[in-house]
Amino acid sequence: MSNEVTRFQDPGLPEHAHRKSDHDAIAANRAERQVAILFLLSAVGTIGTIASYILIDSKKFIYLPILGDTNAQQLALGTGLAASLFFIGIAAVHWAKTLMPDQEVIAERHEFRSSDEDRADFVTTVKERAGAAGLGRRSLIKRTMGVALGLIGLSPLVLLRDLGPLPKNDLSTTDWSAGVRLVTDPGDRPIKPSDLEVGAVAQVLPALPQGTERTLENIGKDAVLLIRIRPEEFNLDAERLSWTHDGIIAFSKICSHMGCAVALYEQQTKHLLCPCHQSTFDVTRAAKVIFGPAARPLPQLALTLDSEGYLVAKQGFTEPIGPSFWERNSA
Ligand code: FES
Repeated sequence: MSNEVTRFQDPGLPEHAHRKSDHDAIAANRAERQVAILFLLSAVGTIGTIASYILIDSKKFIYLPILGDTNAQQLALGTGLAASLFFIGIAAVHWAKTLMPDQEVIAERHEFRSSDEDRADFVTTVKERAGAAGLGRRSLIKRTMGVALGLIGLSPLVLLRDLGPLPKNDLSTTDWSAGVRLVTDPGDRPIKPSDLEVGAVAQVLPALPQGTERTLENIGKDAVLLIRIRPEEFNLDAERLSWTHDGIIAFSKICSHMGCAVALYEQQTKHLLCPCHQSTFDVTRAAKVIFGPAARPLPQLALTLDSEGYLVAKQGFTEPIGPSFWERNSA
């Protein structure tokens, strides 16, 4: 490989003119303040982005002449983020044009790999330039740039909010409580023990007060499987046995592993199966897990009869329904 240097022709550029800030301390300080203000404007844009994420209702729409109906939060997010990135860019350009070292560089075309000497020179130059960029001397720029970049870096954290609200104790509170009738799903008809033959299984929901709308979320939490076997087939302690009625037992339908609907009942073995990961629950032993990844039995709903002979809950669930990770205190 030849070390011969091929030079470009002189393009005839005008002679390099030095900037005012190179020799005028007042101009340099003014430029520093301008850069700092631009960084601060970027920080304001980021704060506006975060604030609009938290404060503006994500379902709120406003009408704008050209855009028409526009989601207010998305508009504010876009505007704030655009402003913060725009001002960081402008600040960097202004900083480079007014305060960073101003030297004319003549680039010459070399063979692809620089000589070791040139490479060492390059490293030294980069180190010198980093110092000469003024970060050490210009603490105002350093501080405002730190604020602007730090806020930009933090802003993605607010996106965690999009993961949705934590379940809190929502899963401990279903619509089941003492005296609430079991009703068919679908149909909303109250159930008497005679409606269920031995070996039958049915999905039921709690009867809601007149005028209350049933939501999908409630159906998901409240769904219960009602199963009838012969009473002598139960292998339960006295308390759990008292929660059954004449061979009828009820369990939450939400799998205690990861929340799928436990949908399969094997009449011969009296096993409930979850189709997602094959957790298997023994109905005769209060839905004890006999196979699969579920860590705890399906919560059992205590049953009794009301004065008209309809099946009702004796009380609400005594433990949270659903996966154990939804409720850290559950076993
Ligand atoms: S969700 Fe039921 S076994 Fe995994």
